Amino acid sequence: MRRAVAEAPSNIAIVKYWGKRDELLNLPLNDSLSITLDLMVKTEVVFSHDIYRDEVYINGRRLDEGEVSSYAGRVLNFIRKKVGQESLRASIKSWTEFPESAGLASSAAGMAALVWASNDALGLSMDRREMSKLARIGSGSGCRSIYGGFVLWRRGQRGDGEDSYCEQLFPPSHWDLVDVIGMISEAKKKVPSREGMKRVKSAPTLRARLEFVENTLPQLIGSIEKKIEGLFYELIMKHSNSMHAVIMDSWPPLHYLNDISFSVMETIYEYGKAGYTFDAGPNPHIITREGNVGEVEELLKGLGIEKVRLSRVGEGPRTIEVD
Ligand code: DP6
Repeated sequence: MRRAVAEAPSNIAIVKYWGKRDELLNLPLNDSLSITLDLMVKTEVVFSHDIYRDEVYINGRRLDEGEVSSYAGRVLNFIRKKVGQESLRASIKSWTEFPESAGLASSAAGMAALVWASNDALGLSMDRREMSKLARIGSGSGCRSIYGGFVLWRRGQRGDGEDSYCEQLFPPSHWDLVDVIGMISEAKKKVPSREGMKRVKSAPTLRARLEFVENTLPQLIGSIEKKIEGLFYELIMKHSNSMHAVIMDSWPPLHYLNDISFSVMETIYEYGKAGYTFDAGPNPHIITREGNVGEVEELLKGLGIEKVRLSRVGEGPRTIEVD
């Protein structure tokens, strides 16, 4: 029996991953960029030949076989192949600090924590780049959770995904940004990202979005490097809009934002000292400087959003225990 416990952070994309060129390997259509959050998932993994089948518990709830095979199972299959032990099975227990499916990227953090803990438990000696590729196979956005700070995921060109991995652009200490997360809804989303992304292939505006991402990514990275606040906020809002525009342009019809989300967009744009971004859900992530957090909280309160969660720019995963 080999056991390890690790914790890994969630991340918020400021250039969104939406659309795949390969669904099994989670190879994206475009590069994406994220800020690592300080919201963590802790995962214990036990590998043994005496376990009958892979099992996963999240906050005490046992996942059904379908859920296991489409996320953790993909990572485990890869590991079994890598170590050449086809009969090795795993028991995985995860605990999230935040609601599991409320658009706070718990699957990303969960996959990163699983990969990190597995690397420790089995002594695989993978470097971060290798681990990011493996986390990607579990859940695309998970590859960005292998690093702290500001993280770039290169989409890559190859069919085998060997050039689709992440790297840290700037460490957490680079910029004192805060993510003020408005908790509008903690409900599970009706259409998971994975299904939503399949639909985007039908969007006539997808090509324009991919061009937009390619053309503005260097500028966005430059705005982080030089800490040009106004430009940075403008670009992250445009990138959020761009993803939600192609989502609305998909067929069958799909949308993740609600009336409150739209009010937040107007209010934050007018405020001028913050930027909004939304993942596949209605909860706003308002990115701002530490000194503006109080004002942003007041603005959200004015829109009826009383419950917020704050996150600073977080560190990457860490090992907690190895047996
Ligand atoms: C809206 O990484 O959850 O959060 O690769 O199918 O597991 P799979 O999808 P997932 O999608 C995340 C989508 C997003 C944008 C982002 O994080 O870049």
